[in-house]
Amino acid sequence: MGVPGSVGVIGGGRMGAGIAQVFATHGAAVSVVESDESAAVAARERIAEGLAKAAERGKLSRQPDVILERVTVLGDLTRLPAEAELVVEAVPERVELKIDVLTRAESVVSDHAVLASNTSSLSITELGAALREPRRFLGMHFFNPVPPSKLVEVVTAPQTDETVTRRVRDWVRALGKTDVVVRDSPGFATSRLGVLLGLEAIRMLEEGVADAEAIDNAMELGYRHPMGPLRSTDLVGLDVRLAIAEYLHSTLGERFAPPRLLRDKVAAGELGRKTGRGFFEWR
Ligand SMILES: NC(=O)c1ccc[n+]([C@@H]2O[C@H](COP(=O)([O-])OP(=O)(O)OC[C@H]3O[C@@H](n4cnc5c(N)ncnc54)[C@H](O)[C@@H]3O)[C@@H](O)[C@H]2O)c1
Repeated sequence: MGVPGSVGVIGGGRMGAGIAQVFATHGAAVSVVESDESAAVAARERIAEGLAKAAERGKLSRQPDVILERVTVLGDLTRLPAEAELVVEAVPERVELKIDVLTRAESVVSDHAVLASNTSSLSITELGAALREPRRFLGMHFFNPVPPSKLVEVVTAPQTDETVTRRVRDWVRALGKTDVVVRDSPGFATSRLGVLLGLEAIRMLEEGVADAEAIDNAMELGYRHPMGPLRSTDLVGLDVRLAIAEYLHSTLGERFAPPRLLRDKVAAGELGRKTGRGFFEWR
């Protein structure tokens, strides 16, 4: 089975543009919905840039322009094609916004379409409960940057129909990516494990067990992690990590309590690579 013939992507930012790019590259007609016409033009630019980068790296079997022709950008959600087989939302991480675009998309597409959210932390069960037909909804958690990332977490709620999960897993494989199926729970599989490792590394730094370089080297060389937990926290952003840790602390308990050092660094504006300093210097 290939990718769906027609795909809708709501939100053409960092993640949505990448999701649109990979589906179009694999032959789908993709409609990207943005909040207005000028945001739609910007989304097309992002997709064009992504395709140009992929072409430079020799990752495309066709000219980028030919692939870009499969992408339509829209400033209005009601123009999503009724024949879309899959709609993935990738709007900002706010529950009311996601519910708004998902319920509106549901009323535009056919009853056979699958609806998915790219949320990295919100409850798939709660988002699905707002829909008329929650059985056709699940999480498709892509990773950043989307084109080279190998993984998609497929997050299923109790209401998700098994045939919907199977279709989505097939589509993920048709994109050349690997799916892991995860039952809806806070942090899914990746954030839950990744954040815990990051928090423990920060606690070790606080306790003076070793310095940041040593802690990261230990995991990179000893356990063959491609990147140590502190450098990885710097790339994600300390503020982003803190927000996720607070959410996991409130839902999963004390083991996710954010360390003081993390709070202090965020308060001091040391947010990682984006501000030039986190646990490492990035200037
Ligand atoms: N950035 C990451 O590393 C990452 C990784 C995995 C998942 N996610 C998740 O993906 C989602 C999007 O994140 P992002 O980093 O791409 O954000 P982003 O801010 O880059 O993109 C969001 C886009 O949605 C658009 N938008 C806002 N309101 C809209 C509306 N009503 N209709 C249509 N479009 C609208 C914005 O204009 C923007 O272009 C979030 O749920 C986030 O948690 C992000």
